Amino acid sequence: MAGTNQTVWETHYTRERARQLYPDENVVRLLKRNFAVPQTGTRALDLGSGSGRHLPLLAEHFSEVVACDFSHTSLKMSDCTIKRSQAALPELPFADSSFDFVLCWGVLHYLDAALLGPAVTSLERILKKGGHVFLTLRADSDTHLAAQLHTGDLREGHARLFSKKEALELFARFKTTQYGFIARQPLGEEGLVAHHLLFCEK
Ligand SMILES: C[S@@+](CC[C@H](N)C(=O)[O-])C[C@H]1O[C@@H](n2cnc3c(N)ncnc32)[C@H](O)[C@@H]1O
Repeated sequence: MAGTNQTVWETHYTRERARQLYPDENVVRLLKRNFAVPQTGTRALDLGSGSGRHLPLLAEHFSEVVACDFSHTSLKMSDCTIKRSQAALPELPFADSSFDFVLCWGVLHYLDAALLGPAVTSLERILKKGGHVFLTLRADSDTHLAAQLHTGDLREGHARLFSKKEALELFARFKTTQYGFIARQPLGEEGLVAHHLLFCEK
């Protein structure tokens, strides 16, 4: 199943429209509020970095930024001055306690159920004590993703929707968690795009 999804994402990134240029406003706001002053020696990982839209922003807040995705094509689209690493969650080729911040934006709901627990464990492993992860999980009120998987750009891929309780339980072993929720109806469409937001400290 993971193999199928990898192929689906590789195909997705061969389309020019897969290139996203602007960071999500929620990421902009969180970094400004929590990591306003860049500190020497800080490291951030964009996990599931896609076409790399968050990399220049992360580079404004951390002294070193690494991009990681299982799609080779997506990494080729990203800023080549940033260190890039091709890897498939839950396997992460990074040392224990090596990052201050991990952004995992729109990624974890694409994992097979069996890989999700190990992926959270890997994420926790690579974070420094006191480090943070900011992530989204597609919410069970979402009605948009199913169409993407059946007839849209992610045809033949798979994903899972999460209740708020399931999302919080996955990260229950983190020291603190702040919860948020975003929903939007794309212009001219019926479906709702809905995500749980979690900001967790190890
Ligand atoms: C919806 S895109 C989000 C991309 C980027 N985070 C953004 O916000 O623009 C999901 C990304 O997760 C990557 N991905 C999905 N499953 C993955 C896995 N098991 N390991 C690594 N990357 C994965 C895909 O290749 C894709 O780039």
